[in-house]
Amino acid sequence: MKTIIEPFRIKSVEPIYFNTKEDRLHILEKAFYNPFLIHANDVLVDLLTDSGTSAMSSSQWAGIMQGDESYAGSPSFSNFEKAVKEITGFPIVIPTHQGRAAEKILFSLLGGKGKYFISNTLFDTTRANIEFSGAEGIDLLCEEGKHPATPAPFKGNINIEALKKTINEKGAENIPMVIITVTNNSGGGQPVSMQNIKEVSSVCRKNKIPFFIDACRFAENCYFIKLREKGFASKSVPEIANELFSYADGCTMSAKKDAFANIGGFLAMHNQQLAQQCRNLLIITEGFTTYGGLAGRDLEAIAIGLKEVMEEQYLQYRIRSIEYLTEKLSAAGVPVMQPAGGHAVYIDAKEFLPHIPVEQYPGQALVCALYAEGGVRSVEIGSLMFGKYDADRKLIPAQMELVRLAIPRRVYTQSHIDYVAEVIIDVFKKRNELKGLMITEEAPVLRHFTAQLNPV
Ligand code: F0G
Repeated sequence: MKTIIEPFRIKSVEPIYFNTKEDRLHILEKAFYNPFLIHANDVLVDLLTDSGTSAMSSSQWAGIMQGDESYAGSPSFSNFEKAVKEITGFPIVIPTHQGRAAEKILFSLLGGKGKYFISNTLFDTTRANIEFSGAEGIDLLCEEGKHPATPAPFKGNINIEALKKTINEKGAENIPMVIITVTNNSGGGQPVSMQNIKEVSSVCRKNKIPFFIDACRFAENCYFIKLREKGFASKSVPEIANELFSYADGCTMSAKKDAFANIGGFLAMHNQQLAQQCRNLLIITEGFTTYGGLAGRDLEAIAIGLKEVMEEQYLQYRIRSIEYLTEKLSAAGVPVMQPAGGHAVYIDAKEFLPHIPVEQYPGQALVCALYAEGGVRSVEIGSLMFGKYDADRKLIPAQMELVRLAIPRRVYTQSHIDYVAEVIIDVFKKRNELKGLMITEEAPVLRHFTAQLNPV
């Protein structure tokens, strides 16, 4: 059979509340042209994020009921710890309430002025936690990753030559960690190859720099390795994951992505001394070492989700459904990141709206247009999210102006996706009418979450 079907049936549903384009234009204005400020009931298809928005399985819900809420030594923690150890091979597992809590702990301990963290691309909260500590984040994405229209199998790879050069320039002693994000969320959900991971590992070991993986979407990345990298076709996803983590010293993870959980995360590592420091900070900020800001039931749901996410039938459906939307858009001439990423479709807003300069945030203009046209909520990954100002308050734009349509796991059906394609293609047909935006209010960090804008 050629048709790939959703590998699940639906047992429980939630309503979608319909509204009109006129309603949505009013809602957008009230939300200051920032869809983070829109009430979720006013959204028809919510592709803002794939984080915490998954549909949990009946097994996970059963796990929720069985969760043990003991303050210390909960059996649910043991299940969680066992699942993480089996996948990663790291002997130390520290639960946190979500990914950024793991980042906050790690970078508070290792960061500080004069320090540099190197990555393929740091996600927004990861970069923010690094910068908040006084350190600097450096993205060294490979060249092919910087060109949305050009397909390549592993556009999430880090540029190894640039990594070596930067270590020489900054001094290994000033680089507390190299972090590779799999898949590369801010760079189009593109995978990192095993070869690249191996090379990073070898450079880091030579220079005695710890190497961590930001593992939010590890299963999607491993499935891409199975599909695209020589020598992995006959390996199982758990085997590939074992190998991937074997090259690293530790990882951070948001269980809100590839664990189908609505909340949760963890830190895992080999280093006992660093782990002790992390645990000390964990107890102050998150909770005791066997729950770390989570309820026992959350730990149980994560333990189950981590296993479900590596099932190949699921991953085949997951990767194909992103590819399906990418193909539909591409066939209609919409400029999309090629090839399709693991969790989201990324539109190249610079190409989509060439008449809007980066200073007027073409990505955000497109995000607003998609909401107005069809109630589809997406997110800008461009200069609103990553832009900085120079000394004269002139915008230093981001590398790319992307609009991400992140697909929540196991939530929307093919007709929802067909509807999304129709909305995007309709907006594409009248793209010349779209106008840019200017910021009227903004926070000093992570401004995209709360910024207020106005049409120019
Ligand atoms: N690292 C990556 C690669 C992420 O994508 C995220 C979150 C985090 C870390 C932080 O995890 O949300 O649990 O604190 N990404 C979400 C997104 C928010 O929409 O892509 P968190």
